[in-house]
Amino acid sequence: AYTAEPFVPAHADLAALREAAAGCRGCPLHRDATRTVFGAGNGDARIMLVGEQPGDQEDRQGRPFVGPAGKLLDRAPAEAGVDPDETYVTNAVKHFKFTRAGGRRLHKAPGLREMRACGPWLAAEPALVEPELIVLLGATAGKALLGPSFRVTEVRGTVLEEEVHGRPQRLVPTVHPSSVLRAKDREKAYRGLVSDLTVAARALA
Ligand code: URA
Ligand code: SF4
Repeated sequence: AYTAEPFVPAHADLAALREAAAGCRGCPLHRDATRTVFGAGNGDARIMLVGEQPGDQEDRQGRPFVGPAGKLLDRAPAEAGVDPDETYVTNAVKHFKFTRAGGRRLHKAPGLREMRACGPWLAAEPALVEPELIVLLGATAGKALLGPSFRVTEVRGTVLEEEVHGRPQRLVPTVHPSSVLRAKDREKAYRGLVSDLTVAARALA
């Protein structure tokens, strides 16, 4: 099976982890993508936000959530009372998966294979940051951390207490910001996201 395992250094800090991840060849996604997009933000954050995978802009710039979904994520947590300086942001899968259509690169959802392959990076980040709370942005983040039976609609906006890689962890699931951008009623979808993030902010207080 594909796995990042041999690329993850033991006893590394976040900077060393990021450097090692840049050279990950744990699954085929590194071949077509430009670069690894590792997590970013406060290494002592109280809240870790986990998305799906980098998109086109993130792949070009090398930072998570700098494209359209990221614009939304600049506003929503702050509106919910989450201090952006208190967050660390990462993705379940660290390379951009896409298909080419004309000159464009179209996002392709990562499968369980890629989530599992990339899992060792996603395990290492909370182990180092030790966030009080993890916000799961959508189904991929949920499946990657809690298993394939995770259903975001069933648990969004609630505080879960689960074991994550051997550590007890509180988590608040919500939708992915991209789903807000695709929603018919964008304003309503956005309100739903902010409402879920408010649950996360209150859980910290
Ligand atoms: N969507 C994600 O899930 N992550 C990013 O970094 C950008 C878009
Ligand atoms: Fe490694 Fe993850 Fe990139 Fe695959 S997607 S090559 S496992 S960093």
